[in-house]
Amino acid sequence: MRTIRTVRQLIAWRSALQRERVTIALVPTMGALHDGHRTLIRAARLACDAVVVSIFVNPTQFGPGEDLDRYPRPFRRDAAMCRAEGVDVIFAPPREEMYHADHRTLVIVAGVSRRWEGEARPGHFEGVATVVTKLLSLVQPDQTFFGQKDYQQSVVVRRLASDLNLPGRIIVCPTVREPDGLALSSRNVYLTPEDRKAASILYQALKAGEAAVRRGTGDAHTIRRVMQGTLKRERRVRIDYLAVCDPESLEPVARIERRVALLGAIRLSGIRLIDNLLVGV
Ligand code: PAJ
Repeated sequence: MRTIRTVRQLIAWRSALQRERVTIALVPTMGALHDGHRTLIRAARLACDAVVVSIFVNPTQFGPGEDLDRYPRPFRRDAAMCRAEGVDVIFAPPREEMYHADHRTLVIVAGVSRRWEGEARPGHFEGVATVVTKLLSLVQPDQTFFGQKDYQQSVVVRRLASDLNLPGRIIVCPTVREPDGLALSSRNVYLTPEDRKAASILYQALKAGEAAVRRGTGDAHTIRRVMQGTLKRERRVRIDYLAVCDPESLEPVARIERRVALLGAIRLSGIRLIDNLLVGV
């Protein structure tokens, strides 16, 4: 396994592989790798000849006052996981390599990035879209792997890749969870033991919403009330948003007539957690 830190070396590596018709899978990450990332890496390993994992804590997707500086960066552990999973290249550029001092371009995906995380974190999806555009242009992968955990991000990335004719297929893998249902996240390490215990309530709320949809509740307002009712059981929880929306447009729906996405974001002692379920009817 090689660690590449410069754009020039990455392009040289990728060009050599392309000349030999070697297929490339890309797994974009910000590091602090866990079993959620691991499933993406395994799917990538099965899909293509060569696997590149990017590890880059992308500053443009963090808002002022967010956790950019304290975001965990356990590089040696991440590298050990990548090696164990048969990754060929870790691309871990320093900040200046991705964003020169005179960098001025931002990619805006209108519509699908407006609501929910877009509203809670202004500028977040511009940062994500910009870095993903750069990574896909640099690596020119045959397939790129994302997690359903960040559902809105996956929708934004699909739109972006399609609109800008970025190379390769976008693959979205299911969310990996702890035994109590909490979605794995690099940010879970910030939770105090008490908050950690309370955190699975978000998944329980989404499951309660799903059960209500399955029972035939057709009114989105009622579904949201059911989810809210579950979250109220934990007094430590502050609700950021609960959404019943169209899985493609991410616009809220009033009546449930086809598949819906249930999205939730909560805060526990200031730590934000997000999760989602797709529910068919
Ligand atoms: P990061 O949070 O490191 O996540 C990298 C990828 O892992 C994302 O596609 C995310 O959805 C996926 N992932 C995270 N937790 C998961 C879980 N529990 N189950 C399945 N997949 C999971 O998302 C980002 O980084 C960044 O925004 C990035 C796309 C790398 C752009 O900077």
